[in-house]
Order: sequence, then C-alpha cells, then structure tokens
Amino acid sequence: MSLSGATLRLLLVSSHEGCRDTLEEALASKIPGAFQLFWVSLPDVAEKRARELLPHIIFVDDDLSGASPSAIVRRLRQHVPNAACVVVVKEHNTAEAQRAVLEGARAFLVKPVNADDLMAAIQLILEQPTEQESSSSPSPLFAKGKALVFTAPKGGTGRTTLTVNTAISMHRIIDQTAAVVDADFYAPSVDIALNLHSDRTILDLLPRLSHLDENIVMSVMTPHASGVHALLSPPPQHHPQPIPLPQVQETIMGLKRVYPWNFIDLGINIDETTLAFLDSADAIIVNMLPELAALRNARLLLDLFYSRGYPKEKIFVVLNRWDMEGGIPAEDIEKRLHIKISFRIPDDQPLATYALNRGVPVCMSHPNSALAKSYRDFVRFLLKHCQLPPELKAVVEQEEEKRSLRERILTRFRRNEG
Ligand SMILES: Nc1ncnc2c1ncn2[C@@H]1O[C@H](COP(=O)(O)OP(=O)(O)O)[C@@H](O)[C@H]1O
Ligand SMILES: [Mg+2]
Repeated sequence: MSLSGATLRLLLVSSHEGCRDTLEEALASKIPGAFQLFWVSLPDVAEKRARELLPHIIFVDDDLSGASPSAIVRRLRQHVPNAACVVVVKEHNTAEAQRAVLEGARAFLVKPVNADDLMAAIQLILEQPTEQESSSSPSPLFAKGKALVFTAPKGGTGRTTLTVNTAISMHRIIDQTAAVVDADFYAPSVDIALNLHSDRTILDLLPRLSHLDENIVMSVMTPHASGVHALLSPPPQHHPQPIPLPQVQETIMGLKRVYPWNFIDLGINIDETTLAFLDSADAIIVNMLPELAALRNARLLLDLFYSRGYPKEKIFVVLNRWDMEGGIPAEDIEKRLHIKISFRIPDDQPLATYALNRGVPVCMSHPNSALAKSYRDFVRFLLKHCQLPPELKAVVEQEEEKRSLRERILTRFRRNEG
C-alpha cells in the first residue's frame, strides 16, 4: 500500500448508521489514525459530497431505501473517476454486486463486513490501479515526490526568498523540475520574487481535482526561466476562501505525482487551509530570524506542531540572517527553544532585497555569493535529511561525488597557487 504520508479518505453511501459503525471499527482496528471515514445517508447527495471530499475509495451500501447501488456507482464513476467504488451487499445479493462491478465498481464486500476482507479490498485497490488510472495518474494514491512546506513564526522572515532559491537550487542540483507553490493567499509574492505574470492559479486546479491527472496539473503551472514550475496564488485577499483538507491533500498528491520536489510557500495565518498544507507536508521548514519576537512565536508554532502530532524529525528550523548585527546568537535560540537549528542562512540585506525587487533570485543572478552558496548547501541538507525515493538517491550520490571531487581539485589548486 502506498499512501505516501497521506490519509486514506473513504466515503460511505449508506442509509444505515450501523454500516458506518462496522466500517469505522474495522478500519480503526487495522489502520488506526491513517484514515478518515465520511458518511452520507442520502444517495442523492453522494456525488456532491464525493466531489467535495475527493475520497480515494467510496463504499456503496446495497440497502439504500430503494435507490439502485449500481446506478449510483455509474454516476460516481462519471463524476469522481479517480475514486474507486466498492459495493457492500447482503450475503445473497450477488446479482447487485455483479451489476455494480459491470458499472465500474472495483470490488464488493459481503455484510457483515469483516475487517480482513475490507483491508484485502483496500490493499488491492491501492496496489493495482485500473487501466484508466495508470494511464492518467499512476494510482489514486501513489506519489513519489516530496512536499516541503515553508512556514514562519511571523511575517518578513525571508520565507519566500528561501522557498524560491531553494527550489531553483534543487532543480539545478538534481536536474529535475521542481515545483513552487504560492500558498500565502493573504500576501502572495512568489510571482514577484520570480517576476512571473500569469492568470493561472491554484483556483483553476480546485474544480478539476476529481479528475486530476498529469496534464491538468501541468496546465495550471507557470514555467519560470530557471526551469522550475510555479503554482501561483490568486491576487492577495483579505478573507481568502478556505481550501478544505481533502482538496489540499489532493492538490499536493497531484503535484507529487509530477514533481519530485514541491516547495510550498505558506502564509503565516494559522487557519483551516494552512493547517491542511502542514498536515500534508513531508517536511516543515520553520524560517525564523534571530529576534526576540520570532523566538516567542516560534515556541508557539512548534508547540502547535507537536500538539498536532507532527514528528520532530519532520520539522527543520532554519535561522535566516543568522549573523545579522545585534541578532540573538544561534546557541541561545537553541537553548531557549530546546531545539536544534537545522540550518543557517547568512545575512545579506542589499543583495536579498535587490534580487527580490528585480524578480531574479540570488541563486541565478549571483551564483557565487555566500547567500547563493548557502541555498545550495541547504538543498544538500534537505537531500540528506528527507527520505528520498531510490531513483533520486542515485542522482544525489552522483552529485555528492562530483562536489567532493570539485572540492578536492579546488583545494589542490589553492595549495599550488599559494
Ligand atoms: N538572507 C537574507 N539576508 C538579508 N535579507 C534577507 C534575506 N532573506 C530575505 N531577506 C529580506 O527579507 C525581506 C523579506 O523577505 P521575503 O522573502 O519577502 O519574506 P517573507 O516571505 O517571509 O515575508 C526582504 O526584504 C528580503 O530581501
Ligand atoms: Mg512571502
């Protein structure tokens, strides 16, 4: 089963609460904490809920106060083709099970549903995508990429600068297209940092999530001269429409199927949408400045992450402008926050601001600067600390080899010069 860190979203269409309880108990005994089970009791609203919740699997009970389960399966297959349907039938109702399978159900379960049979069906669905699924998207859940969410305890810490420079440096180091997502809906600035002009935004993706495939993902991305692709935010809004968790999860899954690395520039307001991005992250980068206010807010933010059960290994604190004049020493920050600072980025206000205002990231305009070098080192840090799919591991090892060779040559060169 390949869940890639995501939660399995399941929808049950049934007029009976007992059916929901049986499924809930069976799932809780087998995959506690790894699923969300939603329930609709009225068959008429099944399609609407399915489009909102974007379930991976939909269970359709055969006892639906007269409604035909196979007809519901047919409609669900049309409206949410990426969801797998499973009918749940009474012991002798194999005729209905067959009809549903002909309409596109992937499996059927016999009542009372047994936990082992349920898990066997789920496993089968996750491991074996249908022909249609494998041609459009490899599997409803299979996604190889990583989603790195960049957040901060307060505004103006250099989050966008770090996100775009890391993404471009990653793209250059591993030679594979990286994605940058502007998820700061209150104060978007990826478009400014990259000097991009496009009407395509994440809002164009949301209505198409139930049919999501690689072509749809690509159609909403804006390519940048560096080679990275950006998923832009709509213009700044005071009260952006929240994007619910299933839609955020599905957006990230769609991106992860296309891009090995996805860099998400998150807004600092903690709301339903930001929490959905944080919940779906493979790694969270907390970008902070060596200032007192940042320290206090960082403590709150980290406590929030721990209370939500995010593993400590998933959280990386990056101290931006660590050497700025008058800043709190990194060691003091570590002591006060009881954390280890994962990485430090040097201070270079003139260069960073110049780059941001020109819309040309430092790693492109001044690749030999200390700042650009530090972004490259941060990429190497990420490659080492974020679990990598095997095919990327080889690329990283090659890159490491080239780098150490380059360094050996340079050291020898300097020695000869001296
Ligand atoms: N390493 C750095 N050294 C000095 N200034 C920086 C650095 N990184 C970012 N900045 C500056 O900090 C300010 C805020 O950067 P920005 O990336 O827009 O932050 P945020 O997205 O957190 O609001 C900008 O003026 C930017 O030039
Ligand atoms: Mg920003």
